[in-house]
Amino acid sequence: MDRNLALEAVRVTEAAAIASARFMGRGDNEGADRAAVEAMRRAFNDLAIDGEVVIGEGERDEAPMLYIGERVGRGGPGAPVVEIAVDPLEGTNLCSSGAPNAIAVVAMGEQGTLLRAPDTYMEKIAVGPRARGAIDLLLPPAENLRRVAEALGKPVADLTVVILDRSRHEALVREVRAAGARIKLIGDGDVAGALDTCFPDTGVDLLMGIGGAPEGVISAAAIRCVGGDMQGRLRFRNPAERERAVRMGLADPDRVLAAEEMAGGNVMVSATGVTHGHFLKGVRFTADGARSHSVVMRSKTGTVRYIETMHRSGRGPGHGG
Ligand code: FBP
Repeated sequence: MDRNLALEAVRVTEAAAIASARFMGRGDNEGADRAAVEAMRRAFNDLAIDGEVVIGEGERDEAPMLYIGERVGRGGPGAPVVEIAVDPLEGTNLCSSGAPNAIAVVAMGEQGTLLRAPDTYMEKIAVGPRARGAIDLLLPPAENLRRVAEALGKPVADLTVVILDRSRHEALVREVRAAGARIKLIGDGDVAGALDTCFPDTGVDLLMGIGGAPEGVISAAAIRCVGGDMQGRLRFRNPAERERAVRMGLADPDRVLAAEEMAGGNVMVSATGVTHGHFLKGVRFTADGARSHSVVMRSKTGTVRYIETMHRSGRGPGHGG
């Protein structure tokens, strides 16, 4: 995938982040989401790509924009054909309440490389590069913690595990506590949680538990860019969702998937902070516009670029220009 595309893609997440950041703390989930989706879609159509949304806001009949199957980009001769996973506002509740770690994020891959995951749940385990190869979703949590601690060269008691604060995780939380590890319960935003494992400054060593499947695919792409490790297994709420997964091409929908199976080939990820987070600052509005902070990553080179952008009022993304 074209290396310049990564720098172009950041405009797309910047636009979504700035538009949704206007809704920070307003308690208006729908408005925040809509603003992010509209801005992201507009920005996509300025990109010289021939893109297809494979992970989006839902099916065409339930999502007016950035729906699965929607074509984005202005195309044109020689425009790269790419598959795209979007989450224009990952952590809608976080944005609505002004809590940390809401981000706008997209992953792009070559044709046939991103898992077409139905909008269901996924059990996930993710770690940073130093613990690559140490995780196995089929093992009990205590065993994974022991193996990751060994890989990181520290006792289990020094590990920090991020887990979504949900009642479905009561048993997992009990097991992690019994094993002696520290836990950081998060209200929302397990893409940021997965990414945190790859950036030592965050102090996070593992992500465990069940979150959204679309978020799982985006996390897998990001984890691949930074050389971490992740496994996922779809968790269906009903037989219909399971059948949908089969129809979408998953021969064995209950299988544990490696990061490469969720986001293979050359992938790139761009994320922009909406609210302040661990590794991304949130959007700040200034007298003459806005500042955004993004990270752009490519799996081919493992490059991680942080981009701090000043957007001038009326001229930048999120302002229709
Ligand atoms: P949205 O902001 O897109 O709604 O997602 C927030 C999120 O917390 C994800 O990070 C996570 O994967 C998923 O929701 C968990 O789903 P649920 O809230 O149903 O447990």
